[in-house]
Amino acid sequence: MTGIVPSILSADFTRLGEQVREAEAGGGQRVQVDIMDGHFVPNITMGPIVVEAVRRCATLPIEAHLMITNPEQYIEDFAKAGADVIIVHQEVCPHLHRVIQQIRATGKMAAVALNPSTPIILLENILALIDMVLIMTVNPGFGGQDFIPEMLPKIARLRQVITERGLRCDIEVDGGIHEATAPLVVKAGANLLVAGSAVYNSHESVAQAIARLKNALA
Ligand code: DX5
Repeated sequence: MTGIVPSILSADFTRLGEQVREAEAGGGQRVQVDIMDGHFVPNITMGPIVVEAVRRCATLPIEAHLMITNPEQYIEDFAKAGADVIIVHQEVCPHLHRVIQQIRATGKMAAVALNPSTPIILLENILALIDMVLIMTVNPGFGGQDFIPEMLPKIARLRQVITERGLRCDIEVDGGIHEATAPLVVKAGANLLVAGSAVYNSHESVAQAIARLKNALA
């Protein structure tokens, strides 16, 4: 079953609680909080305090997508704030195996994100230890960017590896996901779709926008 994961990056922050509740009521499977530090990506967004706020206003599982350098310094903070899934980028974790152990020690789900240019082979030795791989289908930092179609074979290859090895690892995609690209990534093998602007920047309600994405997969 494919899940839609609204990203609050494109939400109206003057009414964030309402927008998160709309995502929950509208059928979102999880909600993603995009953490950016202005170093790993050319944008600064939010920190654990926003995860705490989201935790207080919804029961949806929360993904903390750490687009930050030195994520190992903040794992416990995001776990305490209420994140259920902690996503770190392979590109900033020279000791990725240790960071995964650190996330596991908090009792949270561990996920690793790959930027568009990062090959999946780099996850070969830890794929069996994580709950999810996040394949970025844009260069991280901003919502509303165009989908990078060259990521489709990368998604398909990862799905093939997971299947061949009999692993239970989700494949999530993030960036430029809307009703035209959603069927493409699901066909390639993704089962969790992060959507920010398609959910929050459409002229429809959040529920209608999520339904539109789900209908595109039907
Ligand atoms: C990194 C962010 C965005 C966001 C989704 O840039 O992670 O990908 O979540 O952005 P949309 O769905 O608006 O492309």
